[in-house]
Amino acid sequence: MLISEREQLRANIERRVIDFGNNRSALIPVIQEVQQKYGHVSEYVMQVLADVLHIHPVEVYGVASFYSFIGHKPKGRFIIRLCRTLPCEMKGKERVARQLENDLGIHFGETTDDGNFTLEWANCLGMCDQGPALLVNERIYTQVTPQSVHDILEECREVFGVHTTLQEKEMSCELPTSAK
Ligand code: FES
Repeated sequence: MLISEREQLRANIERRVIDFGNNRSALIPVIQEVQQKYGHVSEYVMQVLADVLHIHPVEVYGVASFYSFIGHKPKGRFIIRLCRTLPCEMKGKERVARQLENDLGIHFGETTDDGNFTLEWANCLGMCDQGPALLVNERIYTQVTPQSVHDILEECREVFGVHTTLQEKEMSCELPTSAK
């Protein structure tokens, strides 16, 4: 990240901390916003939050580490989360998992070298009667089969790719204001 980008990110975090009350209660909502926008919460962001809130960085790290959805490393453009809870397990989640790993050339918990895909496990996604279920970013797919994995990945590359590119064009270092 360039210095100017860091300065802008810091300024935006400072502003959002004020928006959320300028005290410790701002910590979680700002972390959530950063996670949502950038896909991870970097050490730099944690340091800035500690500075702005006048708390120890370990405290920020502790909060960020508590929530499993918060990552500390950049993830892929498309985060694929496959449900591993029993109903999906019984409907063939393992075969879908192997197909995803084979097609992407990575294991769960890893990101492809091109930075496009991350594979993660998820617990119940609320679609138990239509398993196996998986999420690609915020889009859910149900009754997934090894055969449909290829189509889902292609859809990611085509449909979501365009969508994400548009989002990225809109992205600056500005954090969203909708959570005010
Ligand atoms: S068990 Fe997989 S969606 Fe509920």
